[in-house]
Amino acid sequence: MKRIKVIIAGCGSRGSDAYGRIMQGMPEQYEVVGVAEPIDARRNNMKERFSLSDDVCFLDWKDMAAQPKFADLVVIATQDYMHRDPALAFIEKGYDVLLEKPMAPTPKECMEIVQAAKKHNTKILVCHVLRYTKFFKTLKKIINDGMIGDLQVINHCEDVGHIHQSHSFVRGNWRNSKETTPMILAKCCHDTDLLQWLVGNPCKKVQSFGSLSHFNAKNAPEGAPDRCTDGCPHADTCFYNAVKIYYDDKNNAWFRNVCGQKPNPTDDEIMEQLKTGPYGRCVYKCDNDVVDHQTLNMEFENGETVTLTMTAFTKGGRHTRIMGTKGEIEAHAKDDFITVFTFADKQYHQIKIDNYVGGNTIASGHGGGDSGIMTALYEYVTDTYEGFSICDIETSARNHLISFAAEESRVNGGTVVDLDEYAKRFFEA
Ligand SMILES: NC(=O)c1ccc[n+]([C@@H]2O[C@H](COP(=O)([O-])OP(=O)(O)OC[C@H]3O[C@@H](n4cnc5c(N)ncnc54)[C@H](O)[C@@H]3O)[C@@H](O)[C@H]2O)c1
Repeated sequence: MKRIKVIIAGCGSRGSDAYGRIMQGMPEQYEVVGVAEPIDARRNNMKERFSLSDDVCFLDWKDMAAQPKFADLVVIATQDYMHRDPALAFIEKGYDVLLEKPMAPTPKECMEIVQAAKKHNTKILVCHVLRYTKFFKTLKKIINDGMIGDLQVINHCEDVGHIHQSHSFVRGNWRNSKETTPMILAKCCHDTDLLQWLVGNPCKKVQSFGSLSHFNAKNAPEGAPDRCTDGCPHADTCFYNAVKIYYDDKNNAWFRNVCGQKPNPTDDEIMEQLKTGPYGRCVYKCDNDVVDHQTLNMEFENGETVTLTMTAFTKGGRHTRIMGTKGEIEAHAKDDFITVFTFADKQYHQIKIDNYVGGNTIASGHGGGDSGIMTALYEYVTDTYEGFSICDIETSARNHLISFAAEESRVNGGTVVDLDEYAKRFFEA
């Protein structure tokens, strides 16, 4: 079995806790031979875990890219606005690439990555991890097998979850449009990608509405201080009390590592961050401006219509209804089964998902999608892949375009965007 040599650019939550951890558990397939990460504690953690020498541990991906090529593949897991430059640099050097989503914060940058990958014949996968879960692969197979006839309509909900919204989109990295991508791209480029994959042909038109209605100053309860650590009178009843979320709950390693800015922070380090850092702020007094709910209407090539609702005001999860000429599907990603009602026999059929992995959150490894993509990546790079989840980089980019176009529609008050016309601006220039 060929062992793939891997370097990792960006060793935060995804580079270290997701893909780094998974590759540690696949030692016959992957060998991590270098890392780039400016935060000392994170870089040193990787150095130790993978027994790396100092000369292959870099503070900046640029220094790693400047070395003669010393691995087969690079994992790019830096923040959203730092994907294009490392992608182009490593593609140029001849690396294959696992690229975190979103590919890039603008359509133009996505296109630059597509062009570079085509030019250098790069094997490049975008981390649309849900395509690799048992749950969504089963859903796709039900459609492919013709159980509901010709697909006509999809209603899909991305239930962000109120606490996840507060963590990532109110207090955290994806809260402010000046620093990050629009939320529909950051959170739902997975969903636009999934929906196109499920429908099986291209999206032609998109329209969108949405706003930030709740997580703002006008909803701050009376007397709430700027920080949850400053004696908030609502501490016992507020869902978003940061002390409860980050300090009291010792089991949520994802939240604690992000809040503490390092792997396995102590209680004292968490408390210090809550008093001074972004995660201790009152959710009604942050500098967030991204939406807390947004809906997309889409029309696909054969007239199929699809709605996608992204909403904070939920427990969290994804659920999907798919309607075809011969039946309908009800699928909740929290379940280990999918229900199909077929018109011919007027019966419900419960399709069991083999080896189901629960949940589709980051904490659950996206319901097996994080490890699923690492298995598929290995097969892809070694030319042994036989599944149906992988798509080419141009398709990934076009699926990102749905989110970009939706945001254009939303900020323009819900105009209908013709995606072929929109694509011409970036993809055929
Ligand atoms: N596929 C998914 O489902 C999924 C889920 C969550 C996040 N993401 C995406 O993954 C990416 C990373 O997210 P994250 O949560 O791990 O963020 P993070 O902030 O935890 O990690 C990014 C890391 O990059 C490091 N970095 C900054 N500058 C660098 C440089 N010059 N060279 C090398 N490293 C540098 C940071 O110090 C940080 O440790 C983002 O684009 C995010 O949107 C994808």
